[in-house]
Amino acid sequence: MVESYVVRRVKSGIPGFDELIEGGFPENTTILVTGSTGTGKTTFGAQFIYKGAEEYGEPGVFVTLEERAKDLRREMLSFGWDFRKYEEQGLIAIVDGVSSSVGLPSEEKFALEDRFNIDNFLRYIYRVVKAINAKRLVIDSVPSIAFRLKEETQIREVLLKLNTILLEMGVTTILTTEAPDPSAGRISRYGIEEYIARGVVILDLQERNIELKRYLLIRKMRETKHSMRKYPFEITNSGIVVYPSGEIY
Ligand SMILES: Nc1ncnc2c1ncn2[C@@H]1O[C@H](COP(=O)(O)OP(=O)(O)OP(=O)(O)O)[C@@H](O)[C@H]1O
Ligand SMILES: [Mg+2]
Repeated sequence: MVESYVVRRVKSGIPGFDELIEGGFPENTTILVTGSTGTGKTTFGAQFIYKGAEEYGEPGVFVTLEERAKDLRREMLSFGWDFRKYEEQGLIAIVDGVSSSVGLPSEEKFALEDRFNIDNFLRYIYRVVKAINAKRLVIDSVPSIAFRLKEETQIREVLLKLNTILLEMGVTTILTTEAPDPSAGRISRYGIEEYIARGVVILDLQERNIELKRYLLIRKMRETKHSMRKYPFEITNSGIVVYPSGEIY
């Protein structure tokens, strides 16, 4: 008899998205969210963490390497997401990876130390994940890890180590990265992010009648049947909404 194997799914918290991927991300995988500037990568990740706490009671860690934790919290309030509330309940932890790198003292409970070092970075994330028993993790972004390394080529080693540790920790992770030119097949900055990730979601903009329209493409998702079609989405006052039956005009 063939044993049936059911993939456990983690809800994205993004309306319209989960139905494109058989109900959610496969549990304990790393998903790459890639796109050029302003395509919604940070919002996508933040929504995954926030809705994870609010709707599913799942603890999540957001590692911010691009903007200070307090700036992120403020921006997210514009979607009606009060991160503080869940931080106080121990359901969300924001790791401030910015203050130290610009030489400012951090007022945050969770902050990276000033000397960036791969092993310390990974160890710290591990500790925070364990501290709140996180099921979800976002690291925003891969290029901002690479900028902090002595040699950007070390990013390969970091991602490989990171991926192994993430699998070990049992979290479902979103990594964000830059896509220099998705339509020409360049979907990540270092060209290796998509190989370590088990799923790749491309966020992009397309010009239509002098207006840019947002769309997304699920480029790969292991253990999942998904279409390769582009789906329109919007960033609304309450976050990202995907339109599974909408057309790209
Ligand atoms: N409250 C809001 N309502 C609607 N749209 C918003 C709101 N806040 C932000 N946006 C849109 O979201 C975009 C920013 O998205 P986000 O910061 O997630 O993108 P990103 O891909 O992370 O960009 P970056 O390259 O700067 O990191 C803004 O440029 C704006 O178009
Ligand atoms: Mg961003």
